[in-house]
Amino acid sequence: MKRQQMRGLAMALMLTTALPVAVAHAQAAHSVAAKPWLNPKLSPDQRADLIVAQMTQDEKLTLVFGYFGSNQEKPKFTPAPEARMGSAGYIPGIPRLGVPPQWETDAGVGVATQRESSDPYLERTSLPAGIATAATWNPEVAFKGGAMIGSEARSSGFNVQLAGGVNLARDPRNGRNFEYGGEDPLLAGTMVGAQIRGIQSNNIISTIKHWALNGQETNRMTVSSNISDSAARMSDFLAFEFAIEKSNPGSVMCAYNRINSTYACESQWLLNDVLKKDWGYKGYVMSDWGATHSTAKAANAGLDQESAYTFDKEPFFGAPLKEAVAKGAVPQARLDDMVRRITRSMFVHGLFDHPVVKGPIDFAAHGKITQADAEEGIVLLKNEHGLLPLAGQARKIAVIGSHADVGVLSGGGSSQVFPIGGAAVKGLGPKGFPGPIVYHPSSPLKALQARAKGATYVYNDGTDPAAAAKLAAESDLVIVFGHQWAAESADYSLTLADNQDALIDAVASANPKTVVVLETGGAVLMPWANKAGAIVEAWFPGTNGGEALARVLTGEVDASGRLPVTFPASADQLPRPTIDGDASQPEAFFDTNYDIEGAAVGYKWFDKKGLTPLFPFGHGLSYASFAYSGLKTSVVKDQLTVSFVVRNTGKVAGKDTPQVYVGPKGGKGWEAPRRLAGFKKVALAPGAATTVSVAVDPRLLSTFDSKAKTWNRTAGAYEVSLGASSRDVKAKADVTLAAQKLPVSYKGQ
Ligand code: BGC
Repeated sequence: MKRQQMRGLAMALMLTTALPVAVAHAQAAHSVAAKPWLNPKLSPDQRADLIVAQMTQDEKLTLVFGYFGSNQEKPKFTPAPEARMGSAGYIPGIPRLGVPPQWETDAGVGVATQRESSDPYLERTSLPAGIATAATWNPEVAFKGGAMIGSEARSSGFNVQLAGGVNLARDPRNGRNFEYGGEDPLLAGTMVGAQIRGIQSNNIISTIKHWALNGQETNRMTVSSNISDSAARMSDFLAFEFAIEKSNPGSVMCAYNRINSTYACESQWLLNDVLKKDWGYKGYVMSDWGATHSTAKAANAGLDQESAYTFDKEPFFGAPLKEAVAKGAVPQARLDDMVRRITRSMFVHGLFDHPVVKGPIDFAAHGKITQADAEEGIVLLKNEHGLLPLAGQARKIAVIGSHADVGVLSGGGSSQVFPIGGAAVKGLGPKGFPGPIVYHPSSPLKALQARAKGATYVYNDGTDPAAAAKLAAESDLVIVFGHQWAAESADYSLTLADNQDALIDAVASANPKTVVVLETGGAVLMPWANKAGAIVEAWFPGTNGGEALARVLTGEVDASGRLPVTFPASADQLPRPTIDGDASQPEAFFDTNYDIEGAAVGYKWFDKKGLTPLFPFGHGLSYASFAYSGLKTSVVKDQLTVSFVVRNTGKVAGKDTPQVYVGPKGGKGWEAPRRLAGFKKVALAPGAATTVSVAVDPRLLSTFDSKAKTWNRTAGAYEVSLGASSRDVKAKADVTLAAQKLPVSYKGQ
């Protein structure tokens, strides 16, 4: 038996010891006569009403106050024995009423372990980074990945997964862009929404986070993201709105930062007005870990649950909330609403009816799911002289740098999933949070060697650029790896760390047949781009990343990822050439002015300003080629639908993502000339064709009027562009639309 299988077995045996807790809850579910809220035939609303009516004040208070799930030194804290040690959080249940505890785990790529944990880390399957999943432009892939990590959460004893990161990549240097869905509201909302649906298909709750405008990590606990209501609703909020409509997440996590000078977790505008009133959200709002700053202010603004005591300065929703309710500073009805929302989500998502049971995990099957995600997310940015897929003619291939002999990089911080079998490289990165730097043990070199077809692979670690260049010159082909670790709590530079640009430049100068493979959490600058024959963005590709990469490089599968973010040519092109704030003063208060770009995030800003990026949003090459024809628009009952034919004109099977952009004819009146209005990933055999039809959400044809609280479409001519990227437009059509006003409560189909 292999080491990996033995670990799986040992884990399965270990996990079964916790069965009694689940059984106790299941037994409680039998006494429906005494506890009518346990009757699954009643609606979640009825069940929540019934259970809240039975609760004592202290029981209510129990549900709105969470604890950290790991040991902590400062302040000294040990979670209750019933918590899942090493986890993000725990909220005790109410056994008398059959309310199960809420066991919370991070995050969006799989079941994470908090690094503070003194217990052995859970070793689990990691999806590729969120940005990589977004780069698949394939919601089915996102759903399957979500379903897989949700099942691992469930099998590990968790019923709340702190996933669903959908903050727009407003700044390419944001250290958490790797956790999110890119820079466009439609793409991010669709992809993250699909992943949340997948997670929740396991009868557990997923969050969506971080609500809202948590656009940088520098001074993240204090920085104020300043923006107008309408610009926010047409950008960052819209990504949340789309994702919430598609997935109905049980909980929304409010963010660390302030917005227009008010903390997100005590913003009336954000929580009560936009989320709960305008959108009619019925779930509960939990705070990020350390994001609660008050009792009455936060509770009355719409915060329903304080997370992770000891992270906040005080236990605001503990004894202080009890007192605030007693004194009337927080109405009793508000506390009841908080508890009702929490229990309602627990009913909606099956936490009462399907108690979590720890159990074995099929890591081999899950490896295939993460691999499929990684394969579709890898983006072929440049490919000259047919360098890729790796052809049989290269006899000697050099592989250089970034520990490509042993593994693939992952993103750091609370979302860190620890690899099955342990990290491939030990002792890297910060000892404290957000370290360590973790390489998943999936070696690109070994995966390539397994497909060598007569070629010899030689590895060089890249620490000596001259030696690497010498090897490159002596080789038929070179694959040089560049990486940029990104992690929660810090932003990163667009310039590759540790002088890697010099290494890549030296190697590409020595041999023009150089393929550069990047493992980064988002955009980076590429001063050597003209010298490289091919460039591949592999992001942080997850548990089976090496295998996925080898399959794309060798053409076993098509390269089919498309960029979910713009890669700028320089930081000067950005709305803020330098990030606001000062990382050396983490407690200091700063403002960042998001009204500079407003809703013109990412490619919209580049289009508006007429800037040429290094690689545009939506860009990505395939080994096949595709032609688009027959672009048509139709407007039925005010609904714009765009259709066209895609044909594979290449010699191999491939996948393409045709993209539909819309804008007012003449380009004026919106935040930017055009917006992504639809897309569809298609798989086509050589010569095959398919008709694609895309219904455009009316909000993407409107601007938001904050005074009237309506989505307004102006009567007139609109231009529909069909492209292979935001800058590679293949066909255009004009369409005339009538004026339209939709209420703020409008929900898509
Ligand atoms: C992060 C959240 C995470 C939480 C729990 C915070 O530092 O911002 O995304 O879910 O920790 O670990």
